Amino acid sequence: MSDFVKVSVSDGIQTLKIDRTDKKNALTQEMYAVLADSLLEAEDNPDIRVTIITGTADSFTSGNDLMDFLQSATQEEEKPVERFLKALVSIRKPLIGAVNGIAVGVGTTMLLHCDLVYASEDAVFSLPFVNLALVPEAASSLLLPKIMGHQRASELLLLGDKFNAEKAHAYGIVNEVVPADKLETVALNTAKALAAKAPEALRLSKALLKNDSEAVMKHMYAELEIFSTRLTSAEAREAMQAFMEKRAPDFKKFN
Ligand code: COA
Repeated sequence: MSDFVKVSVSDGIQTLKIDRTDKKNALTQEMYAVLADSLLEAEDNPDIRVTIITGTADSFTSGNDLMDFLQSATQEEEKPVERFLKALVSIRKPLIGAVNGIAVGVGTTMLLHCDLVYASEDAVFSLPFVNLALVPEAASSLLLPKIMGHQRASELLLLGDKFNAEKAHAYGIVNEVVPADKLETVALNTAKALAAKAPEALRLSKALLKNDSEAVMKHMYAELEIFSTRLTSAEAREAMQAFMEKRAPDFKKFN
């Protein structure tokens, strides 16, 4: 159990609240483990009909903890982050994303696996993989072009700039943008509506909507292989070092 992910269940709704506010809810392997275990537990628990994933204060999540990235780069066995991503692709029950603020990296890519996504007006998204000398993950290089077309996906993935909730909505990542003080209620009301529906019909319908999950999983592993290699690259080390030293990275020496 991690102190940084709060798990609660009420009225058939499981809520996963990422809560590591002082680090903008950056995700460590320990936190991914709780997220993965909770999603998988929900699959087997008939008392849970739907899951909401959300954050705290001004952050949904600032993505993978950058220090953790470096420490786990050479780890051989399956990492909790992989278990989490795999669970996102395979779970049969509905998952709602409630994006309350900063959503960086996996904070945005995990939304591509949610069934419904709500964002507060002040949510800010970004996919800075290339800026960190990495490559996209969570099958985002497959799902983003599918959702929004190649040019828009390239804009988000190659440039890695921040974008607001309005753009996330226009590009098809978010169902609805709501005032910050209404986000929790909107997500909860949607979860209640889903929890009241016939569970097997819901699971089968989700499976039909996601009938390409085998291809998604395959693509995700292809990305992960390149991603893991990138983590130990000199380019990525420069990018992470620059973040820690609070300076811009210098990629001029690489070709
Ligand atoms: N990993 C580790 N620490 C992180 C982090 C991350 N992904 N995101 C934020 N933090 C830490 C900062 O290092 C800082 O720690 P400190 O107080 O010990 O110096 C603290 O959280 C607050 O972050 P700060 O940068 O001061 O907040 P901000 O509001 O100015 O900016 C972000 C917020 C999220 C835009 C910025 O922190 C950022 O770009 N983080 C990195 C995001 C990232 O690249 N994630 C990986 C994607 S693949």
